[in-house]
Parts: sequence; C-alpha cells; structure tokens
Amino acid sequence: MKFLFINGVNLDMTGKRERNVYGDQTLEQINRQIAEYLKGDECEFFQSNCEGEICTAIHNARADAIILNAGAYTHYSYAIRDAITSVDIPVVEVHMSNVHAREEFRSKSVISEVCKGVICGFGKNSYILAAESFKL
Ligand code: DQA
Repeated sequence: MKFLFINGVNLDMTGKRERNVYGDQTLEQINRQIAEYLKGDECEFFQSNCEGEICTAIHNARADAIILNAGAYTHYSYAIRDAITSVDIPVVEVHMSNVHAREEFRSKSVISEVCKGVICGFGKNSYILAAESFKL
C-alpha cells in the first residue's frame, strides 16, 4: 500500500517541545522508524505549518490512504476538513497524545467526522496503528 503521512502545525518541533507529552524523538527519527516498520509499503512524508499547504498536500495526494496529524488545526480548521471531503482517499486522524485527557479544547475535532477513524494516545505508534488498520 502507499501511505501519505501528513503532519501539521508545530509537529516539526517534535523532540524539542513538550517532551513529556510528545517524547524526545524528532519527527525525522519517528518518520524513519515508521518507514522501517512499514518497509513492505510505500511511505511518503509531508510536514507543514501552513494550513493551505496541508490542504494542497491532501488535494495532490497519490496514495491509498492518508494518515493525518493536523496538530492544533484539528480543533478548528474547516479548510482541512473540506480538503478531506474533496478527495476520495481515506484519511485517518491521528494524535500522539491522548487529546481527551488534556485541555478541554483538544477534545473537539472538526475533522473526525469526515475521517475514516481516529487514533490517539499511543505516541509515535499512533501513526503505525493507523496504517496497520488498513491491513486487518
Ligand atoms: C497533537 C495534539 C494537538 O492538540 C496539538 O495541538 C498538537 C499535537 C498530538 O499529536 O497529540 O500539536 O495533534
């Protein structure tokens, strides 16, 4: 399968910011581990802090599935929600942290409703679990 992993705003700071929440590995290290775990599959990785660039990445995706951690955009980006409904590719929403065990605003997602499913709380393994869900 071909997976496109999209990470949104502030995910480039993974390994540097709030290490007690997101761990001390960089996004690059995490992506390498994901690619290694899914070595029988094709993995493409994209990160942007810009909402429009994330929408464009979804529009232009050539993949069987998109694994999307939109970061804080999850909680308010109707633009990303509309990008998801603009394509015929299944999108899984992921979060490294358990967003339901944190501040109240993180419990609300404006994209969950248009995603195939949601996985949160398993750190970097959230990405792998999302990809594995297509193989069961
Ligand atoms: C996050 C959770 C979001 O609430 C937060 O804004 C992030 C990261 C996660 O992976 O746990 O930037 O998506």
